Amino acid sequence: MLIARTVAQLRQHLSAYKKPAFVPTMGNLHEGHLSLMRMAKAQGDVSVASIFVNRLQFLPGEDFASYPRTFDNDCEKLRSVGCDVLFAPDEDELYPQAQSFKLLPDPALADILEGQFRPGFFTGVCTVVLKLFHCVFAHSGGVAVFGQKDFQQLLILRRMMTQLAMPVDIITGETTRAPDGLALSSRNGYLSVDERIEAVQLSMVLKSLAASVRVEAGSGRFDVTAAETAAMAGLRDRGWAPDYITLRYQHDLSPVTAVGSQPLVVLGAARLGKTRLIDNLVV
Ligand code: PAF
Repeated sequence: MLIARTVAQLRQHLSAYKKPAFVPTMGNLHEGHLSLMRMAKAQGDVSVASIFVNRLQFLPGEDFASYPRTFDNDCEKLRSVGCDVLFAPDEDELYPQAQSFKLLPDPALADILEGQFRPGFFTGVCTVVLKLFHCVFAHSGGVAVFGQKDFQQLLILRRMMTQLAMPVDIITGETTRAPDGLALSSRNGYLSVDERIEAVQLSMVLKSLAASVRVEAGSGRFDVTAAETAAMAGLRDRGWAPDYITLRYQHDLSPVTAVGSQPLVVLGAARLGKTRLIDNLVV
């Protein structure tokens, strides 16, 4: 596996290929990332991962400084799945000047849910993804693989590809879960032993909401707001601080007015102790 530390080195190496398949990450890799890497290997003529903890997508007071940086371990994992190239720039390389040009995603998509609780988050994500794509896809189009766990991020990035006419196809990997159902996340490592046992409740609440939607679909009796409120109250009673548990249309994440007409997704974000977890389930 080639480790490129500079944009020039990466571009020079990738100039020999026609279809890079790329998995951007912030490191501290787990099986979810590796499954995306395996998908990438099957898609392009060279597989590329990046590790870059992107300051722009962290709010003041969030965990930028303490975000786990596990570079040697990550390299071993990437090698084990046959990753060809790792792009691992430091901050001065990717942001040689303070990044004052930023991408402003559509507020209708980016200022709700995650964007409501983490203002500016998607500006940071879109800006870094655009920049990483300019580095990786400098000579050709290609494929980028993202996990469905970040459902809103995925929707926004797909729209960004379309609206900016970028020659990159986005493909999606399903959320990888621990045997108990907890969605794998680099932040799960923040959980204490007891919190780790409790953490599965977020996915269980989403599952039960999705199940009641399925049962009630078409009956015209399903009260979305009441179901969301009850789900949040259930988590609160167990000591969680939920930001949102909500049922939305998959195509634009707008609130659901009629169950049964279009594909839906249940999304949730909640804090357990100091750890903020997110998850979703398509219905
Ligand atoms: O999903 C992530 O890990 C990050 O948001 C991404 C896409 C690597 C951008 O920093």
